[in-house]
Amino acid sequence: MIKNICCIGAGYVGGPTMAVIANNCPDIQVNVVDKNIERINQWNAKSLSNLPIYEPGLQEIVKNCRGINLHFSVDLEKNIKKAEIIFISVNTPTKKYGLGAGKASDLKYVEACARQVAKYAKGHTIVIEKSTLPVRTAEVIKTILKSAQNSNNIKKDISFDILSNPEFLAEGTAINDLLNPDRVLIGGDSQKAMNSLSKIYENWVPKEKILFTNLWSSELAKLTANAFLAQRISSINSISALCEATGADVREVARAIGTDSRIGSKFLDSGPGFGGSCFKKDILNLVYISEYFGLKEVAHFWEEVVNLNTWHQHRISKLIIKNLFGTVAGKKICVLGFAFKSNTNDTRESSAIIICKDLLEEGAILFINDPKVEVNQISKDLEKEEFEKLKYLKYEELSNHEGKWCFETDIYKSFENADAVVVLTEWNDYALINWELAANKLRKPGCIFDSRSIVVKEDVINNDLKLWRIGDGYKNED
Ligand code: NAD
Ligand code: UGA
Repeated sequence: MIKNICCIGAGYVGGPTMAVIANNCPDIQVNVVDKNIERINQWNAKSLSNLPIYEPGLQEIVKNCRGINLHFSVDLEKNIKKAEIIFISVNTPTKKYGLGAGKASDLKYVEACARQVAKYAKGHTIVIEKSTLPVRTAEVIKTILKSAQNSNNIKKDISFDILSNPEFLAEGTAINDLLNPDRVLIGGDSQKAMNSLSKIYENWVPKEKILFTNLWSSELAKLTANAFLAQRISSINSISALCEATGADVREVARAIGTDSRIGSKFLDSGPGFGGSCFKKDILNLVYISEYFGLKEVAHFWEEVVNLNTWHQHRISKLIIKNLFGTVAGKKICVLGFAFKSNTNDTRESSAIIICKDLLEEGAILFINDPKVEVNQISKDLEKEEFEKLKYLKYEELSNHEGKWCFETDIYKSFENADAVVVLTEWNDYALINWELAANKLRKPGCIFDSRSIVVKEDVINNDLKLWRIGDGYKNED
């Protein structure tokens, strides 16, 4: 019976995943460690609203087990030493320089973890890849751990099994995804180690949902799943452009094809392009691996999924400019939503970053709102400090501040004299906007750009506002 687990990496995956394990396995002590002390302090914050990540249902679970069998700490040595199972859940970003820069995964954090495990582990330890990794990374981890076994005379009694156990949770629905997963995937070559891990999940996941494969299939399945999901979004977004050109409506097309049980209805929402920390990096990783193995056509096929997404994101900015009579310079635009999707405070690779940057470059004045994203994060993403004073300026004074932005918590206040409203994240608050009230505040003709199809079309149009919706070939005057 496993009694002690350690997870290295207290991020969007490590935190929620370990919280759910602790909550479902009261007999197991779960220690989540991270080198980032600020993040650990946030996980230990007295007020649960100060946890480092926002995820529906997470606070309640942390409240149940924190300090009982769920602990957050920076003490890697102590927690690695006592762990029978160690999850590696650190970030695996795209390499910024060197061989494979721009495509390959940067494995420096994973390698550092393996070295720390090699240094501190005692007895037999099962090391689990929870991070998303290129195929055959387990080989690297094995080599590092083996060299520790062979070279350190004092630690002759240590041994390791390596498993791959990729995570399929999506942000915003992480807790539900962890509690009711479509499957749990375990790859490895030691049946005993695989069974030990499986036993943990069996505390709440039906056994038939736990799949066993070899290590390499498990690693590749994770990349493939993300590539297929992202591919669906690029596919429907490409069709949205065609809908706008032809008079078709992408929502109707999606509904029509989604009823074909071979296609299925999920992941067919056209939007401003996929964001999030993983789709782009995982596909580029797949591209890199394919190139490495000389599979040029395979690499090209997947790279186009990312290229289409980037094109589509800029397409939205261009459409906004075009519909605002060819220029946004000096115009006040309210941006609703900055997170890459709703129900998360994560902005990594958010389409809002590209679209806002494009608009600022064209001289627009942006009033940005998001219910969960912090102002500092937006500054970092836009590589531009907030110009808070904008909020207190009269409309006539605003136009002297082209290319600046501020954060506005009160969306109705931000509508005052605004030329346009751009919805970039599908937060429920935005679906409930009172467009009659908004219409009284906006400058005529008052253009609403809905890249998420969440506003009620009639509410906008009946209040004498102009509406542009993603993939909507119908014009207001039709
Ligand atoms: P993250 O950046 O939120 O968290 C990673 C954490 O690891 C950071 O807090 C960092 O400080 C810590 N870390 C890095 N190196 C360390 C070291 N040597 N010692 C201790 N701590 C260290 O990343 P994330 O979003 O949680 O993603 C982690 C992995 O999971 C990635 O490979 C990602 O592709 C994969 N994944 C992410 C999601 C998601 O929704 N975010 C879903 C499935 C899989
Ligand atoms: C995605 C996968 O869904 C998870 O299974 C995977 O574990 C995770 O990546 C990962 O490896 O990190 P996530 O990025 O959190 O999860 O969120 P998604 O719901 O997949 O959304 C990704 C992006 O696609 C968002 O910008 C979202 O708005 C967009 N999207 C999603 C659409 O534009 N249309 C859709 O129909 C669905």
